[in-house]
Formats: sequence, C-alpha cells, structure tokens
Amino acid sequence: MSVTHTIEADVLRRQDPELAEILLGERDRQSTSLQLIAAENFTSPAVLAALGSPLANKYAEGYPGARHHGGCEIVDVAERVAVDRAKALFGAEHANVQPHSGSSAVLAAYAALLRPGDTVLALGLPYGGHLTHGSPANFSGRWFDFVGYGVDAETGLLDYDQAHTLALTHRPKAIVCGSIAYPRHIDYAFFRGLADEVGAYLIADAAHPIGLVAGGAAPSPVPYADVVCATTHKVLRGPRGGMILCGADLAERVDRAVFPFTQGGAQMHTIAAKAVAFGEAATPAFTAYAHQVVANARVLAAGLAAEGLVVTTGGTDTHLLTADPAPLGVDGRTARGRLAAAGLVLDCCALPHGDSRGLRLGTAAVTTQGMGEEETAWIAALLAGVLRGETDHQKAREEVRELTGRFPPYPG
Ligand SMILES: Cc1ncc(COP(=O)(O)O)c(C=O)c1O
Repeated sequence: MSVTHTIEADVLRRQDPELAEILLGERDRQSTSLQLIAAENFTSPAVLAALGSPLANKYAEGYPGARHHGGCEIVDVAERVAVDRAKALFGAEHANVQPHSGSSAVLAAYAALLRPGDTVLALGLPYGGHLTHGSPANFSGRWFDFVGYGVDAETGLLDYDQAHTLALTHRPKAIVCGSIAYPRHIDYAFFRGLADEVGAYLIADAAHPIGLVAGGAAPSPVPYADVVCATTHKVLRGPRGGMILCGADLAERVDRAVFPFTQGGAQMHTIAAKAVAFGEAATPAFTAYAHQVVANARVLAAGLAAEGLVVTTGGTDTHLLTADPAPLGVDGRTARGRLAAAGLVLDCCALPHGDSRGLRLGTAAVTTQGMGEEETAWIAALLAGVLRGETDHQKAREEVRELTGRFPPYPG
C-alpha cells in the first residue's frame, strides 16, 4: 500500500480537494528533496496504516483494564502489545507509551520525580539542551531552578568535569542527560555515578538516540537512568509521539504523572502505530538500518570536513552531526536558505564556540530511503558546492531530484 494510493483513492480527494492537494504537495516535497533534518524519518506504510485506522476514534482515558470509558477491550490489547514490545526491545521493567510527544514525556518525568522549585542540572540550551531542559520560554524553566552544564569550547565534547563541579555545588534533585544536537555517545555510567554522589535522580532524555539504541548502534541509558524519556518518531521510525521507560519501583509514579496529571485520553491510533514500530525495530533489518544510519553520518561528517566545514567534535558516533560553514564564507542561516533552495532540507543550530549559528544534519531519513555511503559522500560534496556558489541552485535541485527518484521513500 503506497501513500499515494491511500490519498488518491480515498474519499479525501473527492470530498476535500483543497486538503488533498496540500497532503499530496507535502508528499511530493518530501520525496523530491533530501530530508537531512536530524529529527525526521519516514515511517513505514504499516505505521501510517495504524495512524489512519479507526483506533483514532476511540477515547481511552486511563490504562488497560482500568479505563474511564467503555468499549476499550480492543484498544487495551493494542496498548498492552505496545508496552510489552517496548519493554522487550529496551530491556526495561516498565514502559509508558502514552506521552503525546517527547516534551510530554519529559514533563511527566519531572512531574513524577520533582516538585516546583526543585533544582535540576541539565545540558544548557546554548550547548544542545532541549527547551524542556530549562528554557525560560518553557514550563521547565518557569517551574524549576535549572543549572546548565556545557561543552568544551574547543572540542565540543561534553564537559563532564563541569557537570561534576556544578552537581556538587548545587545538589540538584535531578540530573538530565540528553541533547538535541550532541553527536557523540553520552557516558551514562558517569551520570549515574554523579547522580548517586549527590543523591539525585537521573533522567536520560534519549529522544534522539533511542532508535540507535533499539538497533544496537548506541549504548542504552536504560540500565543507568531512573527514568528514560524518548520520542518514537526520530531514528526509531515510528509515529510522532513519546515514551517513558523506568524500573518497576517508579512505574506507578510515572503512570500517574502521564495520566491523569499531565495528559487526558491516550491516542490509541498512535499507540497502535508505536506497537507496529517497536515490532519493526526488533527485526534484524532494523539493526542493519541503525548501523547504516551511523555509517552514513560518519561519511557525511568526513565529507563535510574534507570540504572545509568545521565539524563539531571532529565527527559523530550517531545519526547526527553539526558543522560550522563559516570557512566557506557563509553563516548557518544563509547556508540553510541556500541549501533549501537546492533541495537539501536541514536545520540551523547553536555551535559550541561563539554566537554564530551552524548546521545540524542527520541521516535517518536518507538511510530509510536506501541511500548508503556512496550517496552520503555525494550529498556532502553537493552541499559544499552549493555553499561555495560553485553549483547553481537549479542544477543542484535537478541532481537532488534525480537522486531521490532513484531512492523514493515510498516505492511503488
Ligand atoms: C532531547 C529532546 N528532548 C525532547 C524533545 C521533544 O520532542 P517533541 O518535539 O516530540 O516534543 C526533542 C525533540 O527534538 C529532543 O531532541
């Protein structure tokens, strides 16, 4: 079943051509440009089928076997399957699959473990912390007293010594490890030791690497953290949504923090789609995919470095990398615009040094399309050619169309 088929053959086109056009336009945009946004991926047709299923109609406040609504006997099975698959996939004692997003998962983790006014140590926002790690524009920064550790300005590597000093000075109630842009593996054992030293909870926000963890291509935070928060839509390749993993001791607190404290009715179509994605992630094919994602990211990082961009930390262990395009005579924001015109879609991000913006790229989506090291090396060269002004936008756009035509996200 292809996405084209679903939309075109469906009533939507006849009933609401305006919206059908928008959906088809977005499908074309996604399939004819290169999705290098580190947080994005292409879910499988099976995941999309679950998302578009009648489970979307069902109200299901509460948990399997204890709902506030009637008629939940079938969706209860879907949620139990999702929970069991998540527990098996990540070796966790407990999984809550109801968070509507990664942010909702973090909110619930804080609600489970903290009180307003508590001190929390997390990676500072300028160094790759997420909004939920203490931004003044977010509930986290308003309700908790965040202290930020950073990265080394030269190497871009996490400053573990600084985190240690800050933990001893501020005695936080919780320590958060996780980032939107850190390209290296995080030393979860270090953070576990630090949390134990100061009597803090350890919350791993593994929104980005959790798919690599599922595929055995990155270390797991599950044995170390009290609570692991994650998204299901990045490398993990499931529907947009969140998830919390924890030990049996915190299960009840986490569940109550999700519902009824921070959320209402669970979105059962999304939970079913999460179950489908967990099933896919448990296959040898997904293990191979996760390792290919990293191999591609390494080639992309090496290619960009060879072209003169400054790659933060000198490379990557994961699906993402950040780079400063300044040596090519262009700042991050201008670079993003030029590349978008050429069909290379990516994000800007903060850089460890100074105030200038860099570029953040990831290989999850292009790898799902079947691209390998040869194509990622080609992408690095094209990107640099566009930024240097050697390759004109229109020509680059045509080349991107040719490449994506050979690697359609939804073949058939
Ligand atoms: C580390 C981290 N935490 C939380 C989130 C929030 O996820 P969502 O956008 O689903 O709320 C993200 C999203 O990119 C993230 O990278």
